[in-house]
Amino acid sequence: IAIGFSFSAGAPVRYDAEQEGLDQKVIIRFSHVVAENTPKGLAVAKFAKLVREKTDGMVEIRVYPNATLFDDENEFNALQSGKVEMIAPATSKLSSRYPAWMIMDLPYAFENEREVNEAMDGRLGELLFEAINDENVKGLALWDNGFKQMTANRPVVQADDLKNQNFRIMPGPVLHAQFRTLGAKAESHSFNDLYRQLQSGVVQGQENTLSNIYSKRLYQVQKYMTVSNHGYLGYIVLINKTTWDRLSNTQQEAIESAMAETTAWIREYAKKMNDRALAEMKAEHMIAIHMQTNEEKEAWKKRLEPVYYQFKDVIGGPVIEEWQQLIV
Ligand code: LMR
Repeated sequence: IAIGFSFSAGAPVRYDAEQEGLDQKVIIRFSHVVAENTPKGLAVAKFAKLVREKTDGMVEIRVYPNATLFDDENEFNALQSGKVEMIAPATSKLSSRYPAWMIMDLPYAFENEREVNEAMDGRLGELLFEAINDENVKGLALWDNGFKQMTANRPVVQADDLKNQNFRIMPGPVLHAQFRTLGAKAESHSFNDLYRQLQSGVVQGQENTLSNIYSKRLYQVQKYMTVSNHGYLGYIVLINKTTWDRLSNTQQEAIESAMAETTAWIREYAKKMNDRALAEMKAEHMIAIHMQTNEEKEAWKKRLEPVYYQFKDVIGGPVIEEWQQLIV
């Protein structure tokens, strides 16, 4: 029999399985907003499989993709209140709660995935996870998706090309400032409304990873894409703390080990998926693709420099210093 943790209203059911030397079956619901054939979608599926194997089926990760359970605007509250046990929101979406994480949103802060991984495996990663200080929430890992690209209905080559257009962003003060600095407007909307909003023209452009642009067919409702790799998009994997504390030691170890394996795997695989999504979009010829040149990149970086000054104090000295040491 499956004994979930207090998924319905009322006091959580306590059990002393460990005392008895027995683990009871636990169901952990993992809700996310992207398609299954994306880095996050596949990472969740792999994690679920590993947990099942490592616990002989005694911990079941039940996956809800495509915002079928909660969308990005309400998944965090659902996690905190125990309506769902695991989520993996993009770092940007938590950056107002945990300002240290704004470092991940700074434009051109990281050149490539290797730099991000080095940062996360070192002191910078430790500082960021220490910043997750909400009650009833525990951070487990950062999963890569990759770097963001710009899409719009006008070519985006020079930094001025975005002027006066309305871009959809994930909620995040740095992302807001980034577009404002470029003379554009930015509105945050739920990811699952994005296709319709681009199609209807409520917003004229957006930034996202290649795998998201491809799997949600955003390239079919946008005319131009610039592969700029200007910002990083990764996911903070979170678990409800009450759920975590109720797991036996063996179950916690199994989850940690499955998480470590999945994190290592997605680091390799996300890059491949994004490369494949680009190749597919090139082959379909539905969107004009521009690869940002080094010269253009330098000009964009210069233009976006004020964003760094605006946020460095909010992010905090220790995080900024660790980051500076890493990137020089
Ligand atoms: C977005 O909202 O654009 C992304 O965070 C979606 C996702 O989770 O990859």
